[in-house]
Amino acid sequence: MRYSTTLAILCFGLSAFASTSVSALSQYYEMPGNAANGEQIFKSGKGDVPACISCHGEEGLGDDAMGTPRLAGQGYKFLVKQLSDFATDKRQDTTMFIMNTNAKGLSAEDHQDLALYLTMLKKPDTASDMKAVKELGTTPVGVRYKGKIITQYGIPERDVPACHSCHGYNGRGAFPMYPRLLAQRYTYLVSQLKKWRDGSRNNDSFSQMQIVAQKLTDEDIYNVATFLTSAPESTLGNRRVPDLQ
Ligand code: HEC
Ligand code: HEC
Repeated sequence: MRYSTTLAILCFGLSAFASTSVSALSQYYEMPGNAANGEQIFKSGKGDVPACISCHGEEGLGDDAMGTPRLAGQGYKFLVKQLSDFATDKRQDTTMFIMNTNAKGLSAEDHQDLALYLTMLKKPDTASDMKAVKELGTTPVGVRYKGKIITQYGIPERDVPACHSCHGYNGRGAFPMYPRLLAQRYTYLVSQLKKWRDGSRNNDSFSQMQIVAQKLTDEDIYNVATFLTSAPESTLGNRRVPDLQ
């Protein structure tokens, strides 16, 4: 496919000309930024802003013990929006109380550079290790098949829509607006759903996510997060995953 080829050439181009500024073209919209600068900040920080890898991991896969999200492969515009929301205090980091300061210490261009690097950082889907999560003992673990039902069908009797209907098949993302949930860290999924529910995260356009989360019980949250962290990206019958960007 033409787009994958473009990306492959782009990745090659990046490693060959690490300092060259690139403007990646997705199928649908431009993704301006300099991925080499994004990589530099991600791995080494900038000024007072620490290296992102210290909390989000070397490969941007997040960490259940710290409660940090996976960033690798997340949607470009969604990442830019989150960094800008942290910088303008529309979103508060109430987990480690650090992301607002981090985002403010970087320019709008740095946000784009980081988003471009991260969206192109394609890593295999890595589910949270639920045994390790259990051992952590901070967040109860749910029942996977019950979460699958919520993801795909919602809970009609309580007016909960299928997560699927906005976030794409099994939560694989429907960019630019709807982030990828599939292969996201378990403890992060749980913490965000609780934050949407109690209103401590409220940076969603039209309160879309708050309205959904308010209808979920703790049990629903553990179940749906248990499924999403290890949800398959495609069906057995159709292995093709569309280019989502
Ligand atoms: C000291 C730890 C720490 C460092 C360093 C850090 N982060 Fe974070 N980051 C977090 C935590 C904790 C959250 C979750 C905040 C919340 O609960 O809302 C987060 C959330 C995010 C999110 C939101 C992701 C989503 O799915 O909504 C983005 C984007 C992000 N960080 C990017 C970065 C970047 C880029 C850097 C480096 C410039 C960075 N972070 C450095 C701890 C950190
Ligand atoms: C009506 C559309 C809609 C539905 C249905 C929906 N969501 Fe969302 N969700 C959103 C939007 C929009 C965002 C991004 C908000 C923002 O800009 O930060 C979001 C963000 C999230 C996030 C935060 C992701 C991150 O990386 O920070 C989680 C977790 C989430 N949704 C889980 C769910 C679950 C679980 C369901 C099903 C029970 C669901 N959503 C159903 C619209 C929806």
